[in-house]
Amino acid sequence: MTVEAIQLRKPFDILRNGSLSTQPYEALLQHGIAVAGLLQALGGKHTFHPTPEALAFAMQKNHAILATDTDGLVAGFVKAVPWLTTPKGPKMFESPEDVVLVESGGAKPICVEVGSLVVEKDNQGNNLGSHLGNLSAQHAKEVYPGLPVIAVVTNDNTASLHVFGKKLNWPEIQRDYAQELLGIDVLDGWEPPSTIFLCPN
Ligand SMILES: CC(C)(COP(=O)(O)OP(=O)(O)OC[C@H]1O[C@@H](n2cnc3c(N)ncnc32)[C@H](O)[C@@H]1OP(=O)(O)O)[C@@H](O)C(=O)NCCC(=O)NCCS
Repeated sequence: MTVEAIQLRKPFDILRNGSLSTQPYEALLQHGIAVAGLLQALGGKHTFHPTPEALAFAMQKNHAILATDTDGLVAGFVKAVPWLTTPKGPKMFESPEDVVLVESGGAKPICVEVGSLVVEKDNQGNNLGSHLGNLSAQHAKEVYPGLPVIAVVTNDNTASLHVFGKKLNWPEIQRDYAQELLGIDVLDGWEPPSTIFLCPN
């Protein structure tokens, strides 16, 4: 399936940019709590588990996309967050302190990782996961032109491997090459054996 051919098999509202980032912080935090719950229930050891505050921050900074179903309930989520190089080493752009760091020139975005992808169980299989992965990568490429966009998937996460490898057609890259390309080792400190996918240009 080509990326262009991905059509949602059910209606969802896709909230991103201003329709998400301008919501009151309390609303974003509520979304963050819902998404953290989904990641806890469905992501298990396949995903990193950001706090609701970090998820709300990603929504506020236009680093995330939220999908709701026709009842307005959270159906899916993804974020595409830059990795920053800082004097203390690499870190993800995930807090108000990082905004200060970037604005003062103390940190620089070097690549973007699509992550925290999750679709609520009853809504899975409707192309929502692929659609969110694709949209978030395209958005990251517009906001951070020239930066590589990647996704890290644990090797036993067959659904997600299928999404990135087969439905979105992102090629796999080896850890050494990724380190050379990205300037950091994105698997450092991450234990489960995993595959790195690189979004094609
Ligand atoms: C990965 C995830 C986001 C996919 O969401 P989704 O909305 O179902 O995604 P899509 O509908 O676009 O595609 C899912 C595909 O995986 C396939 N699939 C589902 N379970 C599978 C399995 N166990 N093995 C192989 N393929 C599987 C589906 O058949 C579908 O492919 P198809 O359209 O070719 O039939 C969802 O499974 C999820 O939330 N998983 C838990 C959280 C997680 O692991 N996130 C990924 C972190 S990298």
